[in-house]
Amino acid sequence: MGRLQGKTAFVTGAGGGIGRAIALAFVAEGARVAMADVDPRLLDAATAESHGPGLMPLLCDVSDRADVFAKIDGFVAEAGGLDILVNNAVKFHYAPLAGFDPAIVDAMFDVGVKGALWALQAATPHLKARGGGTVLNLSSIAVEMAIPNASVYTAIKGAIDALTRQQAAELGPYNIRVNALAPGSVPTPGASAVITAEGWKSREGKSVLRRLPSADDVARAAVFLASDESACITGVTLKIDAGMTITGP
Ligand SMILES: NC(=O)c1ccc[n+]([C@@H]2O[C@H](COP(=O)([O-])OP(=O)(O)OC[C@H]3O[C@@H](n4cnc5c(N)ncnc54)[C@H](O)[C@@H]3O)[C@@H](O)[C@H]2O)c1
Repeated sequence: MGRLQGKTAFVTGAGGGIGRAIALAFVAEGARVAMADVDPRLLDAATAESHGPGLMPLLCDVSDRADVFAKIDGFVAEAGGLDILVNNAVKFHYAPLAGFDPAIVDAMFDVGVKGALWALQAATPHLKARGGGTVLNLSSIAVEMAIPNASVYTAIKGAIDALTRQQAAELGPYNIRVNALAPGSVPTPGASAVITAEGWKSREGKSVLRRLPSADDVARAAVFLASDESACITGVTLKIDAGMTITGP
């Protein structure tokens, strides 16, 4: 029996990287999963990797509030309810703040912050109707560290941490748990576009375990926080960073 047997989950930005690993891990644990992403090619590739009938690929742009509501409502109508929401979608861009293109700032906040707000608004009535559920938001250890050129990205992840605690308090009375996952640097398509080969090496060297976390490491933590094994845990940000944040300079 899977640890998420009979549960349904909506995962945003699930076509690639960490979101894909989370969606596939949830399916492997018995969940019915909406794999929502804006990129149809990623959805096709990810669907081919799934071993089980539980995966539903869905084209969805989280920055479009109406689209998010339509896709979450449509998934619930088909799956019969919603137990788990994972706010994972992101748009990576690193640059010094002084010259940062304002259009890119808007696009990053539209996906990384507003996308999570819209998904929470759309999902909450369905989670309440189920008598409870779980929300997982993707934060980052970058919130606590000085990462060159990452001011906009870390501002978004800081907002996600704060949103996690606020929503945990607001939704706790409805038996809805809200937690965040804060990975260290994980080699994904998005992160690899902003971190150099030297950056990866230095991060690996700084981690206590002398390794980088993988997308599957993050997915295993997501399964735990989405399952009833973590029934008394809410409002936390769980680091999956191989100990990188506890090393000194
Ligand atoms: N990779 C890391 O090192 C790392 C570290 C800490 C936290 N995180 C967090 O983990 C999450 C996933 O990161 P990743 O590295 O897998 O990123 P990624 O860029 O590899 O994947 C992001 C996914 O989001 C999708 N996406 C982008 N815009 C979208 C939109 N408007 N609507 C729906 N989907 C959209 C992309 O198509 C892509 O599939 C993010 O929230 C990120 O901040 C990543």
